[in-house]
Amino acid sequence: MNPNPVRLHVISASVRPASAARPLAHWAATQARARFEVTPVDLAEIALPFLDEPEYASTGIYAHAHTRAWSALVDSADAFLFVLPMYNGGFTAPFKNAIDFLYREWQGKPAGLLSYSAGGSGGAPAGRMLRPVLESVGMVPAEASAAVPGITGLVTADGFRAPEGLAGELAAVLEELAALARTPVSA
Ligand SMILES: Cc1cc2nc3c(=O)[nH]c(=O)nc-3n(C[C@H](O)[C@H](O)[C@H](O)COP(=O)(O)O)c2cc1C
Repeated sequence: MNPNPVRLHVISASVRPASAARPLAHWAATQARARFEVTPVDLAEIALPFLDEPEYASTGIYAHAHTRAWSALVDSADAFLFVLPMYNGGFTAPFKNAIDFLYREWQGKPAGLLSYSAGGSGGAPAGRMLRPVLESVGMVPAEASAAVPGITGLVTADGFRAPEGLAGELAAVLEELAALARTPVSA
């Protein structure tokens, strides 16, 4: 067994009560466990308010317990897999808010994208929109990404039914994340 496994946080980036992110993230976390120490994170459970810190995140000065808890959780990750839906052509507002709460905690950490949507794009445009945001806070987005079109037909009472090929797409993202996590970011 690897004594120093890469700690991957699989983050469900949607807070909608019936979100498809949960079953999809559950499936993705199961795929990732062979290679990573996985922590599932559901933004709906984290329940952050709109950014309410008086100081800039870059100062690391946090007035609120919810920020300190979010900071500690993000700090404990070596890499992230974001499971994100597309809303009206972009990523969700609560996800952007959760990113904006912190700064140092994201820095230098690899991030993979698993997007989804009801339509045929699989949310890829939301992923493309997100990349410069991740880079702004110093994350290192993996070049490979995975996208799930037609999400509404793939989530049932039994969970997420992965379409053919998705496991391979996700494996490429996870492989890149593992490689990036082992490569120190130069200052
Ligand atoms: C506000 C909103 C906007 C949406 N916009 C799009 C869209 O632009 N393209 C698309 O294919 N699906 C769109 N959908 C459908 C979502 O991709 C689909 O319902 C997905 O399950 C939403 O993620 P969620 O279940 O985590 O909320 C939208 C859904 C919502 C709630």
